[in-house]
Amino acid sequence: MHVVLGVAGGIAAYKAALLLRLLREAGHQVRVVPTTAALEFVGTATWEALSGQPVTTSVFEGTESVEHVRIGRDADLVIVAPATADLMARAAVGQADDLLTATLLTATCPVLMAPAMHTEMWQNAATVANVATLRSRGVHVLDPDDGRLTGADSGPGRLPEPEAIADAALALVTTSGGEGDLAGRSVVVSAGGTREPLDPVRFLGNRSSGRQGIAIAADAARRGAVVTLVAANVDAALLPGGVDVVRVETTADLQRAMQDRAAGADVLVMAAAVADYRPAEIAQAKVKKSGEGLAISLVENPDILAGLARGARADQVVVGFAAETGDDAGSVLDHGRAKARRKAADLLAVNQVGEGTGFGDVPNAVVILDTAGEIVGRAQGTKSDVARGLLDAVADLLSRRSLVDGAETMSARAATLPE
Ligand code: CTP
Repeated sequence: MHVVLGVAGGIAAYKAALLLRLLREAGHQVRVVPTTAALEFVGTATWEALSGQPVTTSVFEGTESVEHVRIGRDADLVIVAPATADLMARAAVGQADDLLTATLLTATCPVLMAPAMHTEMWQNAATVANVATLRSRGVHVLDPDDGRLTGADSGPGRLPEPEAIADAALALVTTSGGEGDLAGRSVVVSAGGTREPLDPVRFLGNRSSGRQGIAIAADAARRGAVVTLVAANVDAALLPGGVDVVRVETTADLQRAMQDRAAGADVLVMAAAVADYRPAEIAQAKVKKSGEGLAISLVENPDILAGLARGARADQVVVGFAAETGDDAGSVLDHGRAKARRKAADLLAVNQVGEGTGFGDVPNAVVILDTAGEIVGRAQGTKSDVARGLLDAVADLLSRRSLVDGAETMSARAATLPE
């Protein structure tokens, strides 16, 4: 695919170099079009070396091939990262005073902008209006992340992580139900973390961002599947395009959403962090301080993954995750193996958490086990890399399933289920 990566002049331009690498590693041709201000932060040599293509900023270079029109016309996808307040203002007005804005005017493909600026600039009425204008014209403007900015300040305005930008952008050109090794398959993925209400204003929850499940949903769609993402309390800015999204809050909601769609699915993936317990009672009014301690009685939630695996047909593939740390009773893999047998999912991705892997937006490594706890694959790297590795194993299993007698699969699952 031909991707144009527009880079505007902000300190986050260096992160666009990582985004460029991700896009190249995914096999895309990338033409970088920086603004002159962007070159103050990262120079031409970096963009040319990483993209393998010439880099110009002005409409007066490469005039023999009418570059300012051709680049936009040839693009399958345009990403602008970082998109500064100035760049978005120029794009909203329709200026064409450099190669990037000219490209934006000629591109007819999906366009995604990933803003980065100081909070005051993002919240300024002029920027708010420009973003609304761009969105109303079909430009996909991501919300910036909330976090540390260039100086000592922090707040909304941080460039989303390169991986999240790549996922969101590639999902725009995904034809759900198109070609690929999951073409014609229906995939249902849960992501995020469930919340259990204590009273009208409080809940028990967890820190899952939902990024791993979202990466799986996006990759499944890229591979041609028709995808439903069951998203439990996921930040709206992370949700990918090209997939059907069902938003849920509690474990009961999530269970219902998965079970309702289970019969029609070829693949069910439980990537959500499910609350194991919920309050025995939900107070109808806000619980007041009593001046003494407070004991909350909890009841166990149903195991959604085990239920899906139990009810699955022989031709379906059920996938779970296991986040483990290892302890005196056994290693990460020992715990993973026991969980694989207990849950009886067809595939269980065992994830070692802690020490810089697993949580938030950090590199990930998983070992993929089958129902019997045997290792059938490994995947590591970004959450997109892990998604790809896991779906390779899913696609492989689906194709082998179509060759074997379904009854054998049923009995393999049944043999591992607890009494
Ligand atoms: N899971 C589920 N329903 C639950 C708890 C977990 O479907 N009530 C799913 C998760 O989505 C994940 C897998 O089961 O795919 C393993 O989750 P994990 O939290 O590692 O396992 P638990 O069953 O909670 O086991 P433990 O807390 O004892 O390690």
